[in-house]
Amino acid sequence: MNFPWWRITFTPVNGATFNSADCLRQLSERGVNAVEINANKEVIFYVEGATPSRIECEALVADLGLELLTVVPIEQQNWVAKCDELLTPVDCGRIRILPFSGDAVPQHNPARDLLLRPGMGFGTGHHSTTRTIVQFMSRLAEDSKFTQPKVILDIGTGSGVLALAAWKLWNVPVLGIDIDPDALANARENCEINGITSNQVNISDRPLESCAGPFDLILANLYLEILISYEHLIRGLLAPAGRLIVSGVMSRQSPELSAHYNKLGWHMITKEESDGWIACEYSLSSTTGAK
Ligand SMILES: C[S@@+](CC[C@H](N)C(=O)[O-])C[C@H]1O[C@@H](n2cnc3c(N)ncnc32)[C@H](O)[C@@H]1O
Repeated sequence: MNFPWWRITFTPVNGATFNSADCLRQLSERGVNAVEINANKEVIFYVEGATPSRIECEALVADLGLELLTVVPIEQQNWVAKCDELLTPVDCGRIRILPFSGDAVPQHNPARDLLLRPGMGFGTGHHSTTRTIVQFMSRLAEDSKFTQPKVILDIGTGSGVLALAAWKLWNVPVLGIDIDPDALANARENCEINGITSNQVNISDRPLESCAGPFDLILANLYLEILISYEHLIRGLLAPAGRLIVSGVMSRQSPELSAHYNKLGWHMITKEESDGWIACEYSLSSTTGAK
């Protein structure tokens, strides 16, 4: 049965202020994603299934100091697969992302082309947050000063696009994690389409807290609040000379990200802005060429 999606809106009890980063972290731990926070006045997220009852909604935010405002049905859409524009190839340096629909695999060059069947996982390369990370990786793969990574982590793998691109560039084991079961299914499908086994790219629902590092390269196209609240976990998983590439942060949020990461000793190596979003490459060591 194809249930619709529900848009559920909460507001802090009695208009109180709340810690949005902590709220987002706790919601992700409860398996709730696609969260928006509007000016710290509303918390919105989406769930799929039969009409959620008030009790179910309240259980999702128990102890977070939020009260229910509205529950509105929205039509479920496999928006990615429907949109022709998202089926055009995307050039990202040494990698070309080749989205396609249907059963017929398009003609491609396996050394360069990453086949991608759009589904419910985010990431076809058309959004600058994805594209810029692949471009950063592509440049790193050509940088003789960068020690080639031996193991890579992709946090929030979505369609698996970054994990697959990383594997294509370096041919080393990649772990791609996500909290969304639909994204995980889409990412696994995309691995299979590219002939990549789970020993090469392991797509997993393992929480970040239980991932075992160190990783030489960590990719994280998430959003500001999660990048801030996960900083200590990412730090603990990064190899001493490793690199972190983040995106998913809007240009206007860039100062907040930089301030937080700089304060904690991260060195920004590269920053790029595109279509109102930024992506940054960081290291923890000042001897990796970071400025
Ligand atoms: C913007 S998409 C990025 C997808 C893909 N990596 C890309 O670059 O196009 C963010 C992904 O992060 C996942 N996500 C959100 N919170 C997460 C968390 N706490 N842990 C792991 N994945 C998370 C979402 O389910 C979503 O698939």
